[in-house]
Amino acid sequence: MDDNGYDVDDNGYDVRDYYKVSKDYGTIEDVENMLKEAHKRNIKVMFDLVMNHTSDENNWFIQSENKENGYEDFYIWEKPFFNRRGKMMPPTNWESIFGGSAWKYSHKRKEYYLKLFSDKMPDLNWKNPKVYGELSKMVNWWIDKGVDGFRIDAIAHIGKAPYRDVILKRNSYKKFSNLDLPHQILNKFNVEIFADKQIAAIGEIGGQPSFETMLSYTLPKNKELNMIFTFNHVYCNNAIKAKNENELKTDIRKLKKVLLENEKMIDQGGWLGIYWTNHDHPRFASLYGDKQYKLESITSYACAMYFLRGTPFIYNGEEIGMSNYPFKDETDFNDVNARTLLRVSKDTEKTLNYLRLTSRDNARTLMQWNSKKYAGFSDAKPWFKLNPNYKDINVADQIEDNNSWLNHYKKIISLRREYQDLLVYGSFKEVKINKNVFSYIRETDNNVRLQVIANLSNNEIRCVLSGYNKVLYSNYEELKDGKLRPYESLVLKL
Ligand code: GLC
Repeated sequence: MDDNGYDVDDNGYDVRDYYKVSKDYGTIEDVENMLKEAHKRNIKVMFDLVMNHTSDENNWFIQSENKENGYEDFYIWEKPFFNRRGKMMPPTNWESIFGGSAWKYSHKRKEYYLKLFSDKMPDLNWKNPKVYGELSKMVNWWIDKGVDGFRIDAIAHIGKAPYRDVILKRNSYKKFSNLDLPHQILNKFNVEIFADKQIAAIGEIGGQPSFETMLSYTLPKNKELNMIFTFNHVYCNNAIKAKNENELKTDIRKLKKVLLENEKMIDQGGWLGIYWTNHDHPRFASLYGDKQYKLESITSYACAMYFLRGTPFIYNGEEIGMSNYPFKDETDFNDVNARTLLRVSKDTEKTLNYLRLTSRDNARTLMQWNSKKYAGFSDAKPWFKLNPNYKDINVADQIEDNNSWLNHYKKIISLRREYQDLLVYGSFKEVKINKNVFSYIRETDNNVRLQVIANLSNNEIRCVLSGYNKVLYSNYEELKDGKLRPYESLVLKL
């Protein structure tokens, strides 16, 4: 338990014991039961697999810190650096992904350990073959329990460049992102475990990978991953600099460029998960939504994304238009990333503005099922905040309303199902209509053709529609000849 009364440091990404379930989530028997019941219903279950680091409370780390036999090099330890005045400093000035230094001094071992994320999450040393030995044993143990696949956390960061380069000031993430080691280790997992056992493997690929790097992770001949999650599409706006939500502006040109680049990657044999946001981002409706056209903006962006090639993922709450939480001050934040940034910040107000627009805590508020107590999330007092707008934005109300976010999402998903073959295997071709419109045609060999047209702006845009057979989806009640209204989106059968 830390000073704030939190039992875990990073909501479970700080793994104390890979063979146990945190008491917040139940027991191993509950997991076995869940897997069994899911499989009965033909549902596959994927687990999040944390391999870059463990908790500092993990037994391996405790042994490593005490230099116990066999565990000395299980983590990344370095001697301190002393500057000209004799001041003790971390071995390099790399910055942690969560803010502050990437190193933490251990008084016990009198050395620094590397921790790319929080102080309590030391990085494993993947150059040590014993680490692969232990982690692959654990992965097999979960596969034997029935797990069907893994979302491999922070995998891009398991390889680190040589440390002695203290001069490096900016962009230190390049020293620990997408080097050769993640490729080698993923290949080993693929060849020795995943391929044989038909286990799906998705890699979380941060660290601003190049096009070639993104592609190389999923090219079938490389035998690494089945697909990747990338982030290039997430901050195609000014959320990082803006002072408040009213200042947010989407960079449509950049967004289209990223989506087209993903398509190019698929053309060349790669594959990726298509999604708008996840548990590490602010809410989708606040990131790209337009307050004046709440329903139209979100459904148009959803339409633009979910008919693309790739495997679609929808983050809970996105489908009902859940939005950011009205955070007031520092005490409102739970996330260790937010708390670290606030701790190291020299300008609290500025950091608070930044966090209000970008914090992951926005996405972690309770699912809004109905307008009753705790929004129907639980009978017991829940672990985290509930957005006060749950009385207006909730599943129960939206089920009843034909023109709700939820019912639009349902229409989009059912079309995705109905045209599954076309949408998974069909080709992709961009149609240029206007700089604010994203439009494309998906087509199969036997000439089934769909066209998606999504106006991503609040402008009215001239657009004459012709040569189509049927309107499969529209986010306005009826079409208007000759123009697209703000955020109008359509799926046409050609
Ligand atoms: C990934 C997870 C994130 C976590 C971090 C460290 O980015 O998605 O939630 O904090 O890795 O494990």
